[in-house]
Amino acid sequence: MRCLVFFITTALLLSTSEARPRSSPSAVRIQAADRSEYLDGTVLDVTSTAGDGDGDVVQAAPRPRLPGRPHRRPTGFVAFGDSYSAGIGTGVNGTEEPCRRGLHAHPMLINEDLARQGPSTSTSFQFLSCTGARIQDLLLHREPSQIGEFNTTHTADFALLSIGGNDLGFFDIMNSCIFRFYSFYSGTCEEALHRAEVQLAGPDFENYLRLAIMEILDRVHWEKRPWFTITVTGYARFFNAETEECDNCSFGVWWRGPQLKRELRSKMNEMVLAVNDKIRRSVNAVNRAFVMPRVLFVDYDSAFEGHRFCEPNVTEPDYTRNETWFFLVGGSDNAYDTTTEAQRFTEGDLLPLSSPLINPNVCMDAAAQSGDWGQLSLCMMATAAERDPTLRLSTGEPVAEGTSMWYVPTYYGQTFHPVG
Ligand SMILES: *[C@@H]1O[C@H](CO)[C@@H](O)[C@H](O)[C@H]1NC(C)=O
Ligand SMILES: *[C@@H]1O[C@H](CO)[C@@H](O)[C@H](O)[C@H]1NC(C)=O
Ligand SMILES: *[C@@H]1O[C@H](CO)[C@@H](O)[C@H](O)[C@H]1NC(C)=O
Ligand SMILES: *[C@@H]1O[C@H](CO)[C@@H](O)[C@H](O)[C@H]1NC(C)=O
Ligand SMILES: *[C@@H]1O[C@H](CO)[C@@H](O)[C@H](O)[C@H]1NC(C)=O
Repeated sequence: MRCLVFFITTALLLSTSEARPRSSPSAVRIQAADRSEYLDGTVLDVTSTAGDGDGDVVQAAPRPRLPGRPHRRPTGFVAFGDSYSAGIGTGVNGTEEPCRRGLHAHPMLINEDLARQGPSTSTSFQFLSCTGARIQDLLLHREPSQIGEFNTTHTADFALLSIGGNDLGFFDIMNSCIFRFYSFYSGTCEEALHRAEVQLAGPDFENYLRLAIMEILDRVHWEKRPWFTITVTGYARFFNAETEECDNCSFGVWWRGPQLKRELRSKMNEMVLAVNDKIRRSVNAVNRAFVMPRVLFVDYDSAFEGHRFCEPNVTEPDYTRNETWFFLVGGSDNAYDTTTEAQRFTEGDLLPLSSPLINPNVCMDAAAQSGDWGQLSLCMMATAAERDPTLRLSTGEPVAEGTSMWYVPTYYGQTFHPVG
């Protein structure tokens, strides 16, 4: 998440600086930089943070400048969107709530940066993002509506937004192409990718995204807050699609799951690029209606170069590689901050066998309703195992011996999300 924070705050910074062009910032210039450079903020002479998370404050680093009224520090912001914004898997304090917001979600880290600039009582942060959210879940006429929940009595100088993946069936694609939680019933990878292409080609995605952005701007009365900006983030390509050594690896949850062939990895990557492109174009379309751009698209894909799945000489799934910036099923968090507890799954995170989440008779409606990848995975696995008692785990064990597979939803739902 730190790298996302770097990109986002850099983008916010550039968006408030008149001298810079407003195209997608920074990404290209810092491609080659490694993670430590993001953390100490030496690249581009800006920094995302005053602290590196280990408690050592980097004294020399300039303070982040986030958008706010001219000559005043920002006093608040709001985060809307899906699980990428909610930061699923990045740690919880106590019990996880249904939206699966994580302690190290990038909006949380930005809030910490902001609080460091002054007394925290004078800043407000509304964390409205929710795992499983689609664009429709933001909109005002919906119930519940993230934009409707936004309390505009609190000041907000900027908004963060990550949305679109669930509208395009990211889970459906992951399931049918990669994991096959639903085994035989998962449908084909080609069909899932095709459905996403059809969605992207149609008018709805862009129209609803523009509507959501306009609703946010209207709720803050943008005409009275000329400094208010919305930063929209995209997604990062999941794979290195060049490496041969990954061709016979698999993330499949059942015996002999799909292999991560280069062709498959390329197709998944192209899908991510197409989504980013669509979001960028929607944002540009909104901005054309204003004299000053109101919305900024942050493309952080290039920051993940070298940090994707299937990098050279990596045999996936590789649970020891901390340079991969996406979660594996049940993988631990890279939380840079070792003073707070990183997400780890223990026996305490196993579901009781009586859990409705793994009861094939009842689990599907609630899972589909929430859109939560973890709930969907669990229910699909439980249903598949019940329908086909011969099904074996990827290790070759029968399911009966794999009762230790029924973990809390986040164990599965965090996959393919950025680590903290
Ligand atoms: C976790 O929650 C407790 C009790 O609500 C609070 O005192 C503590 O500061 C929280 N820790 C973090 C890291 O947020
Ligand atoms: C919005 O925030 C204000 C100030 O904290 C509070 O008084 C009010 O009840 C909130 N409104 C809603 C609908 O929660
Ligand atoms: C993939 O192939 C390599 C060498 O060709 C082999 O060492 C490795 O065990 C294979 N991996 C799997 C998962 O089959
Ligand atoms: C991968 O391993 C091969 C053989 O061990 C080595 O020659 C090569 O330099 C490695 N590549 C990377 C990128 O580490
Ligand atoms: C990442 O892994 C390497 C090698 O396994 C290890 O030396 C390093 O300390 C790890 N870094 C962190 C931040 O855990």
